[in-house]
Amino acid sequence: MSSLELDKVSVAYGNIQAVHEVSLSVRQGAVVCLLGANGAGKSSLLNAIIGLIPLRGGKISWQGRDMTGTRAFEAVRQGLSLSPEGRRLFPGLTVMENLAMGAYRQTRGDTAVSLERVFGLFPRLKERARQRAGSLSGGEQQMCAIGRAMMSNPSLLLLDEPSLGLAPKVIGDVARAITEINATGVTILIVEQNAKLALRLSEYAYVLETGRVALHGPSKELIDDPHVRAIYLGGVATA
Ligand SMILES: Nc1ncnc2c1ncn2[C@@H]1O[C@H](COP(=O)(O)OP(=O)(O)O)[C@@H](O)[C@H]1O
Ligand SMILES: [Mg+2]
Repeated sequence: MSSLELDKVSVAYGNIQAVHEVSLSVRQGAVVCLLGANGAGKSSLLNAIIGLIPLRGGKISWQGRDMTGTRAFEAVRQGLSLSPEGRRLFPGLTVMENLAMGAYRQTRGDTAVSLERVFGLFPRLKERARQRAGSLSGGEQQMCAIGRAMMSNPSLLLLDEPSLGLAPKVIGDVARAITEINATGVTILIVEQNAKLALRLSEYAYVLETGRVALHGPSKELIDDPHVRAIYLGGVATA
């Protein structure tokens, strides 16, 4: 079945090349993770996939459709959605209003159905629907950001550091929601600095180092890889 395919994708900011000829593929229906230290180019790659920043080179396709050069609003129409690093909620707007942003001008499915689905995934958002997003806990804000990304009824969800700054218990809640979203058929590409979490959630992983793919393989194998263990898992055995 077709999938997300990146062929030698490069991203640059002026003279700073953040991503160098990255090729990767994400099987339809899979959860794939992208690991790497701060500054490795992970966010640049996700932002390029959804068309928020232009490619310096390479090609992107989703479900056999060439997405190279597609702008973000059109990418959302084609089924892509991004939950950005740092959540980027509007703190002065309510949860409901933030969720509505994700459905803004989307032409994919019924907004009411999407909203019910998001509330099913995150019941706490339903309880807090009329509260300002800025008054939510960190975990609730992350749920709101993922919920907003789900409002466009995506077939490919890009998650940028969903566990960032969250307490371990809350990370568990977010992880369960990610698994639940994937179980409904949504393909997921997740960027994480929390390698342990990402490898547990995914079937396949890519490791980015200074903008290049340093290694890749089935997540189960990467958990035992000495390089991955030393650098990304703190050398500690995982349960
Ligand atoms: N808007 C920008 N302008 C200039 N350089 C940027 C910009 N965004 C990111 N970079 C640089 O690109 C590189 C990759 O950054 P980023 O994609 O944010 O990495 P990561 O998400 O893996 O931490 C870093 O060297 C960073 O400083
Ligand atoms: Mg980042």
